[in-house]
Amino acid sequence: MEVINRRKRMMSVARRIRREENRSIGFVPTMGALHEGHLSLVREARAMCDVVVVSIFVNPQQFGPQEDFGRYPRDLTRDAALLADYNVDYVFAPAVPEIYPPDFSTFITVEGLSEELEGAARPGHFRGVATVVAILLNIVRPDFAFFGQKDAQQVALVKRMVRDLAFDTEVVVLPIMREESGLAMSSRNDYLDDGQRRAAASLNRALLKARAAYDEGEHGISHLIEIVRSIIEKELQARIDYVSINDAETFEELEKLDDRPALISLAVYIGDTRLIDNVILGRPKKTGAAGAGR
Ligand code: PAJ
Repeated sequence: MEVINRRKRMMSVARRIRREENRSIGFVPTMGALHEGHLSLVREARAMCDVVVVSIFVNPQQFGPQEDFGRYPRDLTRDAALLADYNVDYVFAPAVPEIYPPDFSTFITVEGLSEELEGAARPGHFRGVATVVAILLNIVRPDFAFFGQKDAQQVALVKRMVRDLAFDTEVVVLPIMREESGLAMSSRNDYLDDGQRRAAASLNRALLKARAAYDEGEHGISHLIEIVRSIIEKELQARIDYVSINDAETFEELEKLDDRPALISLAVYIGDTRLIDNVILGRPKKTGAAGAGR
């Protein structure tokens, strides 16, 4: 496994793999602090592709001024050792100026999708995500890029950008990996103490309760949202930011539930830590590799 810091080196390695060796590239973009959620993407990339590239880059453009960019966990040595165990071929770990040179001035905005839910709570976040993912895809030019359903709105945004701007990459979406308590794995779980972890487990419990009600025929949007809210509100440490029901593919906010797969998503503060989670209602469409939450 080689750790690459320079964008030029990454581009020339990827070009050689594609052109001279004619091997497929699977790419997993991450911000490091790797856990089982990231590693599930790496495993799938390893199974599907000849060469696996994982990027580790804590992207300043997707953090708001009051957010945790400064204290976001960083441990390249540990992450690289983990990835070596998973037979990753290349780790791309650039410093900030390699991605954003000092006179950087080009940004990507996926309109509509960037403004609601996570976008409303975190202005500029999705502009930063779309821009960095576009840069990384252009550097690596992978055949497949792997994303987690954990960040459902990010998935919708990346798929839309890849389609709109004709990136020659297939987006593969994999299900949310959870701890035994049901808590969705996240690098930000590191911020929680034991009591907060117990409170955080209510997020998935609430979502599952709503999904069970849906399966039993409850298709009223406000009822389903109320089920989720009432369970989380019992936790003293939890403060709900939003609970929302959206089309699972387009992220359009739904007024009523029909046959289309829908998604209940939420963001909740546990103490100062903002956590997100979601579950899919109804059967996810079988669209092969690009389907949401296969
Ligand atoms: P990061 O939060 O490090 O996540 C990297 C990838 O891992 C994302 O696709 C995310 O959805 C996935 N992931 C995280 N937790 C997961 C879980 N519990 N189960 C399954 N997949 C999970 O998302 C980002 O980084 C950044 O926005 C990035 C795309 C790298 C752009 O900077």
